[in-house]
Amino acid sequence: MAENLIIPESANKQERYESLLPQIEALTHGEPDLTANLANIAAALRYGMGFFWVGFYLVKEGSLVLGPFQGPVACTRIAKGKGVCGTSWAEKKSVLVPDVEAFPGHIACSSDSKSEIVLPAFSKDGEVALILDVDSDKLNDFDAVDQQNLEKLMRLIEGFL
Ligand code: SME
Repeated sequence: MAENLIIPESANKQERYESLLPQIEALTHGEPDLTANLANIAAALRYGMGFFWVGFYLVKEGSLVLGPFQGPVACTRIAKGKGVCGTSWAEKKSVLVPDVEAFPGHIACSSDSKSEIVLPAFSKDGEVALILDVDSDKLNDFDAVDQQNLEKLMRLIEGFL
């Protein structure tokens, strides 16, 4: 599954993140191009963790605009405060949604998406620069292990914003 990534088959979720994050760091090290780095991170998360949909939305001219992603086609623009991504942007914090049907205003890009986690990365002036959205086709698929590890990843991404 993760052809160019080294992740032990028997690893649990925490171990997979522990194996994957240094590989992402190595993959992006010394590369200044944001699109190239986000594209590789989306692929590393999709294939390293087996997520259903992984992608970035970038803050551009007052909207979230779809960036590099892996998975089925997705909505291209999201307004501030709308859906899970727009809420994460407006509230400047991670949002974990165990059941998308129960989240008021959730934007369904795919009817297969059942749970999701969304995390912001901040520019040096403290504003949200981009959002990472990870979706699962299973209910209640994300927890504190995902949140802690993906927040570490967002801090790494902030290093090359
Ligand atoms: N569900 C997200 C929209 C993005 S897609 O899931 C890829 C939301 O409610 O913001």
